[in-house]
Amino acid sequence: MNQHDLVVVGAGPGGYVAAIRAAQIGLNVACVEQEAALGGTCLRIGCIPSKALLESSERYAAARRDLAEHGVKLGEVELDLAAMLKRKDQIVGGLTKGVEALFKKNKVTRYVGHARLVGPGRMDISPLTAGTAVAPPRSEPGAQATGPAELHAAHVIIATGSKSAPLKGVELDYDRIGTSTEALSYPEVPRHLVVIGAGYIGLELGSVWCRLGAKVTVLEYLDRILPGMDDELAAEALKLLKRQGLEFHLGCCVTAARRHAGTKGRRDEGECVVEVEGLEPLLCDRVLLAVGRVPNTDDLGLDTVRIQLDEKGRIPVNDHLATSAAGVYAVGDVIRGPMLAHKAEDEGIACVEHIVTGYGHVNYDAIPGVCYTEPEIAAVGQTEQQLKAAGIEYRNGVFQFRGNGRARALGHIDGKVKILADAKTDRILGVHIIGPRAGDLIAEAAVAIEFGASSEDLARCSHAHPTLAECLKEAALAVDGRPIHA
Ligand code: NAI
Repeated sequence: MNQHDLVVVGAGPGGYVAAIRAAQIGLNVACVEQEAALGGTCLRIGCIPSKALLESSERYAAARRDLAEHGVKLGEVELDLAAMLKRKDQIVGGLTKGVEALFKKNKVTRYVGHARLVGPGRMDISPLTAGTAVAPPRSEPGAQATGPAELHAAHVIIATGSKSAPLKGVELDYDRIGTSTEALSYPEVPRHLVVIGAGYIGLELGSVWCRLGAKVTVLEYLDRILPGMDDELAAEALKLLKRQGLEFHLGCCVTAARRHAGTKGRRDEGECVVEVEGLEPLLCDRVLLAVGRVPNTDDLGLDTVRIQLDEKGRIPVNDHLATSAAGVYAVGDVIRGPMLAHKAEDEGIACVEHIVTGYGHVNYDAIPGVCYTEPEIAAVGQTEQQLKAAGIEYRNGVFQFRGNGRARALGHIDGKVKILADAKTDRILGVHIIGPRAGDLIAEAAVAIEFGASSEDLARCSHAHPTLAECLKEAALAVDGRPIHA
């Protein structure tokens, strides 16, 4: 029997951060992960590898398109896809090893296997495949162990993340018809990639393969892209992405996607067909299904502690991330709220701190979201549509990147910053950015919202010149109708 103060199930951003924070506070903590590598979806098959490919593909596209304008002449630009994928894998490998090192440094005991609750405060760990269990767990903190093992813990945090949502009629073979995982490693550039879903994943990975030379068709059920994002920014993003060559069919319902029968043995073997209501069937060589994600709550033994899932398969929690079962908590993609790595991290820390100190808090109004297309799209706080729906009066300040010297020097002038502030108090309620490095710029806006800043506060802060961040200052000035450079 192995006794711990806290067992964290899942070593993604929610779980591994919670484990490290708990160890910092002095708990005897263990983390159980069923994959060989730590880091979860984010590090292994999500945020990090996609950003590596977005960066590489953007450089390839820039070398082919934009460098001449900077006075840089290149000969023939050639794609070495294998090298690009290898670089991505090396980045992932380095970071997952980094989490291992952090576990060792903080003396977090690591168990490899699938954890299942077997009753209050008790879990067992089984290896995923028979025969993989070997070394018995060592008792010292920080040891690495493989199951089977029985663990006892006063507290358990479930941080098991999410997986791609299936879609009726789409016959996933996890090769030609796959999810984001496969789209991070296509061995060759598809001739024609059909992406189902114009959310974060569809647009980011669609952009990667479009830049590398694929024809990319995005099919979206709604009459807009990026649901949840500010309407105006989403419309601008659509325009800019179309200009880059992505094709969109909005308001369309995909009814089926399968390998194309009857092509076996022919040169185009492996082609797929996608059926969409009201459109001719689309033939393509790869399909990426990106219609959202569903929580990983299968086979966790939740019934043994009487936890019932909500209608979306999520684990219900209270404000302190506690479930209905004493001593069992949940964070990240398995609970309500946006499925974002940093939201999971913040919850992991708040949960642990609440367990130990009785205080721990996540401000859900100040969690930024970023879509890493070109240009990037980032937002924090409320959209105009949400403010209108809530009947909150607001003032709106907009500044275009084309009015900013640094944006011109970079050659990235598309996009704008929009700040929404309360009409009476001037408190900043939402910031929406589409433009160069929007994902980095949004940090200032998140801090402003967290600290309850007014647009006047932001406008009066000195912003280095020439920087893209000056666009935030100008948009803040624009809330009061006094931008300098517009
Ligand atoms: P999403 O929820 O962002 O977008 C899915 C899209 O698919 C929506 O536009 C939806 O209307 C559409 N859709 C649903 N059913 C459809 C159908 N039958 N036919 C056509 N379109 C359909 O989901 P996505 O992109 O799969 O991402 C999953 C999660 O991962 C999201 O919660 C997202 O926040 C997170 N994520 C975050 C990233 C980031 O922070 N940069 C990057 C990638 C994912």
